[in-house]
Order: sequence, then C-alpha cells, then structure tokens
Amino acid sequence: MKNESPAQRIKSLTQQLRTHNHAYYILDAPSIPDAQYDRLLRELQQLESEHPEYLNPNSPTQRVGSDPISAFSKIKHAKPMLSLGNSFDYEELQAFDKRIQERLKTSQEIEYVCEPKLDGLAVSLRYEHGQLIQGATRGDGAMGEDITHNIRTIKSIPLKLQGDNIPAVLEVRGEVYMPLKGFSDFNKRAAAKDEKVFANPRNAAAGSLRQLNSKVTARRPLAMYCYSIGEVIDGDTGSTQWDMLEKLAQWGLRVNPEIQKVTGIAACWQYYERLGKKRNKLAYDIDGIVFKVNSFAEQQQLGFVSRAPRWAIAEKFPAQEEITLLISVDFQVGRTGAVTPVARLEPVFVGGAMVSNATLHNMDEIARKDVRIGDTVVIRRAGDVIPEVVSVVLEQRPKNARQIKLPLQCPVCGSGVAHPEGEAVARCMGALDCPAQRKGAFEHYSARKAMDIDGLGERIIAVLVDNKMLTTFADIYSLERDSLVGIERMGGKSADNLLAAIEASKQTTLGKFIYALGIREVGESTANNLANHFGSIAAIAAADLDTLQATPDVGQVVAANLQAFWGESHNQSMVNALQAAGVHWPDVQVPSLEQQPLAGKIFVLTGTLTIMARDEAKASLMALGAKVSGSVSKKTDYVVAGESAGSKLTKAQSLGVAVKDEAWLQQLLSQY
Ligand code: IVH
Repeated sequence: MKNESPAQRIKSLTQQLRTHNHAYYILDAPSIPDAQYDRLLRELQQLESEHPEYLNPNSPTQRVGSDPISAFSKIKHAKPMLSLGNSFDYEELQAFDKRIQERLKTSQEIEYVCEPKLDGLAVSLRYEHGQLIQGATRGDGAMGEDITHNIRTIKSIPLKLQGDNIPAVLEVRGEVYMPLKGFSDFNKRAAAKDEKVFANPRNAAAGSLRQLNSKVTARRPLAMYCYSIGEVIDGDTGSTQWDMLEKLAQWGLRVNPEIQKVTGIAACWQYYERLGKKRNKLAYDIDGIVFKVNSFAEQQQLGFVSRAPRWAIAEKFPAQEEITLLISVDFQVGRTGAVTPVARLEPVFVGGAMVSNATLHNMDEIARKDVRIGDTVVIRRAGDVIPEVVSVVLEQRPKNARQIKLPLQCPVCGSGVAHPEGEAVARCMGALDCPAQRKGAFEHYSARKAMDIDGLGERIIAVLVDNKMLTTFADIYSLERDSLVGIERMGGKSADNLLAAIEASKQTTLGKFIYALGIREVGESTANNLANHFGSIAAIAAADLDTLQATPDVGQVVAANLQAFWGESHNQSMVNALQAAGVHWPDVQVPSLEQQPLAGKIFVLTGTLTIMARDEAKASLMALGAKVSGSVSKKTDYVVAGESAGSKLTKAQSLGVAVKDEAWLQQLLSQY
C-alpha cells in the first residue's frame, strides 16, 4: 500500500468504496463496519483534496451535494415516460387480461411480472458508458426537470454501473421514495427543531428532490428502486421485463426483491392479495401492484392508448388517507394509565373500512400538528394499525375551532393526571384503583400470548370489573357459575365454557405467566428470556439490578421496572395467591451450555409455516439457545423459509445464507 502512487490509491479506494456501497445500499448487506467505511472515505477525501487533478465527478465522495443551482432546467425525455391505467377490483383486472388475450389473438395464459407500486416519484437516470450523467423528473412525461445534482446524493443510485456488457447509453426509470423509518426519523428531528414536517413519505420524497440546494437533499433519507428502461444505445437489455430487471440488478441498480413472474391473471390476483397483507410490514409505502406483460415482443404488439401502455395496469389498494371532520375529542385511559386523546370523526370510508375514531397519540402530537376541534383533518388507516390523524387542512379551519385541552382529572376514575415535563405521555395516577387500568390489566392477563383464557375478553371483563367481581387477578379463579349466569348476555353454556377455559389456562409456562403480570416494558420475548435465564419467579424477584441485566434483552430500564414491581409487597402476594389458586407451569431447567445445542446460532423464520405456528417454532428454537431474528444479515446462520417466503428468502440467497425448509426445522427440533 505504501508504494502506491496517489493516483493508484485513489483508484483502489474508489473501487473498494463502490463495492461496499453496493453491498450496503443495493443488497442491504453491509460488508464492513461503518467506522471502517468512514476511514476509507476520509482517506479518499483527503487524497482528492491534495490531488484535485485526480478528482472524478463520480467518485464516492461526491455524494454530499454541490453548490445550489438557481433554477431547474427542462429536459426532454429521449423516450416519453408513460403513466399507467388503474384497476380497482378483480373484475377490472380480468377485463384487462381478456383485452390482452384478444389483441394477441391467444387463449393461452399470459405471463406477467408483478411489481409493488411504490408511492414516490418517477425519475429517469441516464448512464453513458456506465457513468451517471443525468437525472430527471417525469414532469409531464415528455419534458421533465433536471435534478441531476440531487439524484447524485442518493446512495442507492450508483454513480457508475458495474459488470459486463453495459450499454453505451442506458436510461433507467424507477421510483425515488423515502423509507418509512427515515421518514418518521426525519419528521421527529424536524419537529424537535420546529421545522416543517411532511404529511407523508411521498410528499417528503417530492419535496426533497425539488431542492435547489443538493446539500439539503443529501441529508434526506431517499432511496430508489428501478423498474423500466428508456433509451438504450448499443446494448442488450433482454427480451422480457424479467430479464431486463435481472440485467439492471447485475449492473448494480437496485431492483425490488418482491417482484415476481407469474402465469395467468389469477396468479396476479393472488400476488396482489399476498402483498396487500404484507403491505404494512414493508419498509416503504406502496399504493398498489403493477402488472406488466413480460414479453417485450408482446408489449410492442399491444402498444399504447394515449399516455398509458395497453400491456400494463396498476391494481390500486384501497385509499389509506381521507379527509373528514373532527367533531370532538375524548380521552381514553389504557392499561398503563396512559391518557390518550381520541378524535371522534364524521364517519369516512378509508383503507377499506368505515372510520369514526382516530388516535391523536398525545398532547405533544396535537400541538405539533396544531389540531383543533372543528378542523377538517387527514385520516390515515394502514391495515390493522389504529387509524390516526395525520394533519390538518388549515385552509378549511372554521373561525370557532377550539383548542384541545388535557383533562386535569382522569375521565374514568377522577384521580389526578400527571404530565411530567419532557414526557410525551400523560398518565392517570389511579393505578389499579382506576377501572380503566384494571380492565386493561385483566385484558392483558387473559390474552392469548399471556394466560390464554378463551372467552375472557374485553366486554366480559368490563362487566366483571364494573360489578366488582374482578379486583385482583386471583379473583378470576374464584368466579362461580351462579354469579356469572345472569350478568349481561351470559347464559349457562357460556358460563360453563368460560369456567372450563379458566381451569384449562391454569396450566401455563413460566414465560407466559411473567408476561401476563403486565410489568412495564416486559414483553413476550423479555418474559421468555427471564424465564429461561432464572428458571423461577423466586429467583427473578430476588435478583439485583446487575443480575437482571445479565438476561438477554434486559437493560437498565427493564431491570428497574422489575425491581420496582417486586418491591411492592402486594405484587408478591398476588403471585402467591395465583399459585395457590392452581396456576402452575413445568419446571424450567436453567440450561447449561451443553443443554443449549443451538447456543450462538442465529435463525430467521420467514413465510408461512404449516406444521407449527411461527411463535411455537420461535419458542422451541430459543429454548435450545438459538437467537431468532427478524432480519437476514451475513451473521444469520439459517433462514427457514415457509410457504410464499419473499424478500427475506431472496436476501438470504443473495448473501449465500443457508436456506432450509420447515421439514428440516422439524427434524432439527426433534433431535433434542
Ligand atoms: S411502470 C410503462 N412500474 O406509478 C409504465 N410505475 O401511475 C410506466 N410506479 O409514473 C410506469 N411503481 O411513478 C411502473 N413498478 C412500477 C411502479 C410505477 C410505481 C409509479 C410511477 C408511474 C406511476 C403511474
């Protein structure tokens, strides 16, 4: 290395950094630690500043933005950027498929490529001899704006293509978007500095690309997925959409791993339904699925109607955002005493369901969004997540809009409400004397992942708590048939069923029991870790802070919560009473290393498991000492892929991580 000339060293650093960038931003699989990457980057910056004659405009150091431009110039697209026709149900999609078969004069099933429709901004990148020379917005499809300076700051866009047979000119099209995590972090930081926050990731991406100052864009967490091509000169981009995407990926461009090739429109619909279920787990917003005829020859034959191709269609998901009127605000009290403002709305159809309530989260959020009673508000509902008020349509604020005030007293029990300085959440101080907190505690205790008492749900708990039939958890086990029958809508049969479920639930596991107690911040996985680490309630209760923190997942805060819990003598008595009532679990052997044959092994479970539930598989693996992680990385030892496994499977394959099926897992678990 010492003997390298500056020019050689610059070349070698550039090459190394490009390889690491590709691993990090395109494959989502970092190849070196951040600190080492930073060292290489700084060394290159230093050398380039000492030898400006060797500075390449596409060097990895040139991502930080350049001097502001004064205006955007217009760019004419070499090939127009098209838009897409929409479909809103399966019938329309079938009609699309039928039109295609008719035009192609075939009754054979058509091969389609299914692609998530990202909700961002379409851009076109122009590479000449593998070097990025231009980036443009879609504009009206014929003319766009030159945003090259901003495009160059997006790390998932290669400044130089890699691999072989790169066309002399390659225009690549795709979507620039802001990942959800980056979006929420960005908004949090902006709010803390009293700066403008964006209503949704799409606006954030658009606002970031329309910056004259690319140094601003460089600080925005943008990313891109590529999905089509424009002009290509002197190059082979394949004869199908699928081959083309593969080539783009080989040249170092980022392609969505969820994309699939299918045959027939029924398979397209299955893909749509599957992704629809997965939609809320993706790291980015999608608003539908795009289906494209795979064969370029057939695409050519089908052609266009006005601006949209006949060979592609966007099947939209139900809208997730709508506007409606905020009529009033109530405050709800949860299991932990958190007092949450809830907006009562004029009912509106959003995300496939009628919504008349939405959370406003807390008082800080209300202040940040400046929400008032009487406002017209934007409501967002994403799958099974609670609908939320996203923002206010300020132009429509009536003169008599009213400020929202935090109540001084708990609306349920009348105890004081504490809202400590610097904390977002206000809390009722009534603890378990507050019926709302008590009901929440019972709901948590009887939930499936806790004591799993079938039939002891929200409605019946509310009645039993209000009738003072349930005060402490142990009361559950002395409920009697006679007093149950006759309470709201409870017949003899239901009462018998409930009592049988209570009886059956007495046999549990230590982990579930600890979780059921509802100790603050002790979730299911922490509870299991505590159970496996200590083996008994007595050992946990007796442990000091350091010993508690030796448990996987347990940090200072959780350890302090545990100590505070056991410090209350009534909690200790409650646990004794529950055991006296018959709650029991098999002994947990605190395993020695030999008993943990999978110690140190990292597993990822993905797709649908059919033989055992995922929770069950996870628990069995953890009991053998394995770690079960949610994401695939180079450190992963095994990915167990069930049915319809998607991006995690693809990623494991690209990283060369061992991929196994459920039968293998069964076999493995049965050995111990
Ligand atoms: S293809 C040939 N594929 O949707 C048709 N568009 O409504 C050109 N979009 O302007 C578009 N994901 O901004 C295509 N996988 C995808 C897409 C996609 C998102 C956006 C794009 C386009 C708009 C049309």
